[in-house]
Amino acid sequence: MENKVFDVVVVGELNIDLVLWQVPMPEYETEKLAEDMRFTMGSSSAITAHNLSVIGAKVGFVGKAGKDIFGDFMIQQLQLAGVDTSHIIQDASLKTGATIVLANPPQKALLTYLGAMTELRLEDLDWDFLSRARHLHLGCYYLQTGLMPEVPRLFARAKELGLTTSLDTNWDPREVWSEDLYEVLQYTDIFLPNNDEAIRIAHVSDLESAVEKLGRMVKILAVKRGARGALVAWDGKKKEIPPFRVETIETTGAGDSFNAGFLFKFLEGEAVPECARFGNACGALAVTALGGTGAFPDTVTVRQALQQILQGD
Ligand SMILES: Nc1ncnc2c1ncn2[C@@H]1O[C@H](COP(=O)(O)OP(=O)(O)O)[C@@H](O)[C@H]1O
Ligand SMILES: [Mg+2]
Repeated sequence: MENKVFDVVVVGELNIDLVLWQVPMPEYETEKLAEDMRFTMGSSSAITAHNLSVIGAKVGFVGKAGKDIFGDFMIQQLQLAGVDTSHIIQDASLKTGATIVLANPPQKALLTYLGAMTELRLEDLDWDFLSRARHLHLGCYYLQTGLMPEVPRLFARAKELGLTTSLDTNWDPREVWSEDLYEVLQYTDIFLPNNDEAIRIAHVSDLESAVEKLGRMVKILAVKRGARGALVAWDGKKKEIPPFRVETIETTGAGDSFNAGFLFKFLEGEAVPECARFGNACGALAVTALGGTGAFPDTVTVRQALQQILQGD
């Protein structure tokens, strides 16, 4: 596999999730009790990197965290999954961010402090490290506000170095959906929005128009559609890829796991529909357990579970 050490380097954010289950709506000057809680790895980018590594790819991670317990926890979790964390910067002047999830299935409310992720800059990136990968993936474009204006340069340079590129912007919490993103899309091989993000990014009112517009901007468009599966557009073609039926426990990280599955097959040279089918299987697997990485504990377990899901097709 050339002289490349990594299949994928993920550039992204590192935050923890504290999930509280069955909580009434909070009110100022009162205390309410949750029925259960769980402390887990958060962050779309970190979940994609973790699950991609567990599936079997060689993955490196680049990002910024605080020199604190949350930062240590994120790095430890990635390392346990086999991710190379040597290029995660821990800065003692910063705080690793956190999301408090108030989960009352099927609804949840998120409260996030972004923390160190906003301080990653282009000059922090080690091009030697990036050039050791075949592929660059960037997650949570809108949350990495320090890096955001420089992402076109990052992707252009990655392409010059011979890497393929993918992007999952996730939701824009400011709901601006700036067309500045279109410059990044020029250098994006695989664009991985979900249904609602695709419509907003394209500034249109329905998915068909969004696919029409965004499909012309990138090489491969894979739109994630929750329990409806995925829709892919590439080379002037378009195809719906049906979902796999599983028992849904909790949906955090479904999209990030879809990314992992799609990229895994893409790097094996599979055709786009097959990449999306495997993405759907990984997304389906993700919703069968709590948290984004709960269903991805180790390679043997995951391969068996994926085989079952794929055969139940
Ligand atoms: N309830 C579900 N049943 C089966 N597959 C699902 C379910 N929810 C999500 N998925 C799979 O995970 C993928 C990503 O989920 P989605 O919710 O669309 O993304 P995101 O988490 O980014 O919003 C879907 O395209 C689908 O393949
Ligand atoms: Mg997502």
